[in-house]
Amino acid sequence: MGPCGALGLGLLLAAVSGTAAELHTLRYIYTAMTDPGPGQPWFVIVGYVDGELFVHYNSTARRAVPRTEWMAATADQQYWDGQTQIAKGTEQVDRDGLGTLQRRYNQTGGSHTVQRMYGCDILEDGTIRGYSQYAYDGRDFIAFDKGTKTFTAAVPEAVPTKRKWEEESEPERWKNYLEETCMEWLRRYVEYGKAELGRRERPEVRVWGKEADGILTLSCRAHGFYPRPIAVSWLKDGAVRGQDAQSGGIVPNGDGTYHTWVTIDAQLGDGDKYQCRVEHASLPQPGLYSWEPPQPNLVPIVAGVAVAIVAIAIMVGVGFIIYRRHAGKKGKGYNVAPGSNPTI
Ligand SMILES: *[C@@H]1O[C@H](CO)[C@@H](O)[C@H](O)[C@H]1NC(C)=O
Ligand SMILES: *[C@@H]1O[C@H](CO)[C@@H](O)[C@H](O)[C@H]1NC(C)=O
Repeated sequence: MGPCGALGLGLLLAAVSGTAAELHTLRYIYTAMTDPGPGQPWFVIVGYVDGELFVHYNSTARRAVPRTEWMAATADQQYWDGQTQIAKGTEQVDRDGLGTLQRRYNQTGGSHTVQRMYGCDILEDGTIRGYSQYAYDGRDFIAFDKGTKTFTAAVPEAVPTKRKWEEESEPERWKNYLEETCMEWLRRYVEYGKAELGRRERPEVRVWGKEADGILTLSCRAHGFYPRPIAVSWLKDGAVRGQDAQSGGIVPNGDGTYHTWVTIDAQLGDGDKYQCRVEHASLPQPGLYSWEPPQPNLVPIVAGVAVAIVAIAIMVGVGFIIYRRHAGKKGKGYNVAPGSNPTI
């Protein structure tokens, strides 16, 4: 885990944007809570490689443990002892951090949380990325800017932390950790888990439309894919409709695969061609899935026409019989509607 034993306090985080350009990612999330709930550990570390949970530590068991078979099979006892030592150190740091922040915010009690998130990514073009950020009670607190080697205080209460860390050469340590140590371990973990992390599972894609209040909502759902990065977009006549597209994010299924969905609102019956495009590592080229407006069902129409024809035939037939009867009675070859005034 990181050099976090050196940090004055902990936590939290904004979402790091997930894009298809990430090749491999290593991310750690630490959560320290004053009020974890009955029977729950107050301090938890989770680590992810390529979005897969692979290590776990909590303040109850006080052991760093593998969460994937490939980690259990590959990392040795020395590794787990080392990770456990680092995690125990961090646990103490975050206990102090919770106290420091409550004092800084003049809080005398209540439920408070410090979270930190840090990690590094290798992008498809070979560039690397590193980040470290902290949150207090769910709001951004401070973040490391690797480019300028400074910390950015998100709130005034974080300014003393920024000063302290910058005086203590934390930026140098973080930059070094994120660019060297973190990258080294990311490559190692990817190698350890390559059989599982390198697998490719194709998404099952389904498109459908639903009409409500005159608005046609088109949905495209990709299910059961791995790895996590995916790009799903709606095309209208071949052009991406991005502005008004809504997505449910990329969500784990629990079986090691992911699902996601994207919807747009379409115009009813405008004759445009809508397609859902899916780009994923398992697909040699982007998949295109067309949405077809439902064809009107012809059976009721045919049946209706048949009924109408029969009805007309019956009426015509009855009329003819009546006419014949009239004609027969009056002995005339024609029948005039009452009130009409035909020309001769
Ligand atoms: C704490 O960690 C141990 C293993 O180290 C695990 O068995 C237990 O489920 C964890 N507790 C929670 C609440 O995650
Ligand atoms: C905490 O209390 C001190 C002294 O009363 C005050 O100056 C400071 O603004 C308070 N801080 C917060 C975050 O409320």
